[in-house]
Amino acid sequence: MPVEVRMAELFDAEFNLSDHPLDEKGLAGAVSDSDVLVPTLGDRISAKVISAGGNRLRLIANFGVGIDHIDLESARARGIIVTNTPGALTEDTADLAMTLVLSIARRFSEGEAMLRRGEWKGWAPTDLLGRSLTGKALGVVGMGRIGQALARRARACGLSIHYHNRGRLPEPVEKSLDARYWPKLDDMMPKIDILSINCPATPETHHLIEERRLSLMKGDAFLINTARGDIVDQDALIAALERGTIAGAGMDVYVGEPHVDARLLKLGNVRLLPHMGSATLETRTAMGEKVITNITALARGEDPPDRC
Ligand code: GLV
Repeated sequence: MPVEVRMAELFDAEFNLSDHPLDEKGLAGAVSDSDVLVPTLGDRISAKVISAGGNRLRLIANFGVGIDHIDLESARARGIIVTNTPGALTEDTADLAMTLVLSIARRFSEGEAMLRRGEWKGWAPTDLLGRSLTGKALGVVGMGRIGQALARRARACGLSIHYHNRGRLPEPVEKSLDARYWPKLDDMMPKIDILSINCPATPETHHLIEERRLSLMKGDAFLINTARGDIVDQDALIAALERGTIAGAGMDVYVGEPHVDARLLKLGNVRLLPHMGSATLETRTAMGEKVITNITALARGEDPPDRC
């Protein structure tokens, strides 16, 4: 990637060229003689890895926005700064979330799969009937950058916007999205046709969507998760999908990635993508640029701009 070339020019950098996460031993080895570690979301930055950094490690400059794979408390306790890449992947991730909304509601993937199997018999009045988006209600859980970018796309498709967030958006933002705020998530659940998870994974949002909340959803509603698998109780979601108490789900994230629960693979009413919300050349380059900016700031003795 061009950004790796740039990093090699700027810093005394060592790369994991395999494109796959390192295990704990590999990470501990990598930090043992580094000032800065640049992990991706697949690298588990445990207390053990952090302590292997000794007194030298000063910055964990995450290549990505979610930081739930980093033991923040251990980093803080050792005075290590953690940064991420906010903003860089907003639009692409919102594109992917909107794609999942469209794909699950309109059954596009099912249509293509049928055609590829050679089973298409021609246009038919009742074949592959999906659900219209126009006039339906989208509920966004976590109305940050990505949630808002999704809301903009959804409005263009005729959906009304509802949201639940830790805090209410400033009035002009809420107005520009024509969005209705629900202080209580439980109150929003029965009112919406599509629920999109766009909040970060934290101890507070772990299993935010569990069996009881799923049971509050309409029977023909869809759930979209492009944030983190742990926010939804995956077993409860699978049970709801198997029983048909919700109509379907679109997922880009899973519990225990890259493992995908075999029960999900068997279900017809789910669209499954391999955590690829930010997977474009432009966005991965922009993420790398943010990492470089954060490292450069530290090297200059300044506060890195994307400190978490
Ligand atoms: C992607 O999921 C990220 O956190 O950057």
